Amino acid sequence: MVIFAQIFFRMREQDFLPKVYANFPEKGKVIWKAPSNIALVKYWGKRAQQIPANPSISFTLDACATTTQLSYEIRGENTSDFSFDLSFDGKSKEDFKPKIRAFLERVEPYLPHLKRYHFQIETSNSFPHSSGIASSASGMAALALCFLSIERKIQEMEDGFFNRKASFLARLGSGSACRSIAGDLVQWGYHQDIEESSDLYGIQYPFKVNQVFKNYQDTILLVHKGKKQVSSTVGHDLMHQHPFASKRFDQAHENLAQLKSVLATGDLERFIQIVESEALTLHAMMMTSIPYYILMLPDTLEILQKIWRFRKETKIPICFTLDAGANVHVLYPESVEEPAMQFIQDELVVHCENGHYICDQIGLGAKQIFE
Ligand code: PMV
Repeated sequence: MVIFAQIFFRMREQDFLPKVYANFPEKGKVIWKAPSNIALVKYWGKRAQQIPANPSISFTLDACATTTQLSYEIRGENTSDFSFDLSFDGKSKEDFKPKIRAFLERVEPYLPHLKRYHFQIETSNSFPHSSGIASSASGMAALALCFLSIERKIQEMEDGFFNRKASFLARLGSGSACRSIAGDLVQWGYHQDIEESSDLYGIQYPFKVNQVFKNYQDTILLVHKGKKQVSSTVGHDLMHQHPFASKRFDQAHENLAQLKSVLATGDLERFIQIVESEALTLHAMMMTSIPYYILMLPDTLEILQKIWRFRKETKIPICFTLDAGANVHVLYPESVEEPAMQFIQDELVVHCENGHYICDQIGLGAKQIFE
């Protein structure tokens, strides 16, 4: 009954503190596969502890995912530091270690066992490492799920609570990672119209979603595969002194409120308007911060123009969104897949680095591969 009540009410930070446990498993392994996600209403700007400055919502992806195997073995009682080895695509990755250590430090208060174990973390992405696709969302989600699965071996956890706590932990690794745990459409950040919404974790969008969005397609055009010049961490930080920040945060609340009827009725015209406006606003924030910068490239702009032209001429409802980079996510309903792919191949692929793109679609969330 207590757990039942927890799922339906907004949880507090202290609800995620662990109990005191006696029976730690000696050793074992878990494997999780967690997807990437693409925001429709963007999270851009944050406070301490990865608390978002505004609420956001994303489509969970399917093909773009990180698989992480976590092997654990207990060591002595009085261990004062973390102990772990890390490999990526089968090769030891010393340069990823500081990020993982920082994550472990942040989540330690909520996971009782971390310093009792030596961990072997083996991780790989379904998408190429240098594709310009951020792996932090899927990577941190997979890692959070693996670590929390050890606690679930000690203490039974109801799925609703497990997902919220995994999302809470993933957020501490990378904000948008909290939207990569469970559900096809995930909302994160407090919004007055969404009773269960929380700044601490993502939730499955609780309102009606029209069938047209069920198998939505996302073809990711890889315009630039290299590392971007300005990291998202720096970008979020620049929102602190940004002249348009408070208007932008209000706009995100408003767009999320408007999406409610758009998603319910399947109003694609208004959907496209909100999604494209959100993408351009994200980049407008970058262009109007001090220092200012531009992550879009000439090919990005050509793609956007061609999408607008194609949509006007054919009335086929395809649109774009952007992440914090030059790549373009082309979004469209499954029912127009054939003409959309034809158009992408005929006109857009020429703007991709080495002609590379990824065909993805809405997915359902992370999957446990091994218990
Ligand atoms: O999760 P972070 O800190 O990498 O921020 C990512 C923010 C955007 O991807 C640009 C937008 C979003 O909501 O995912």
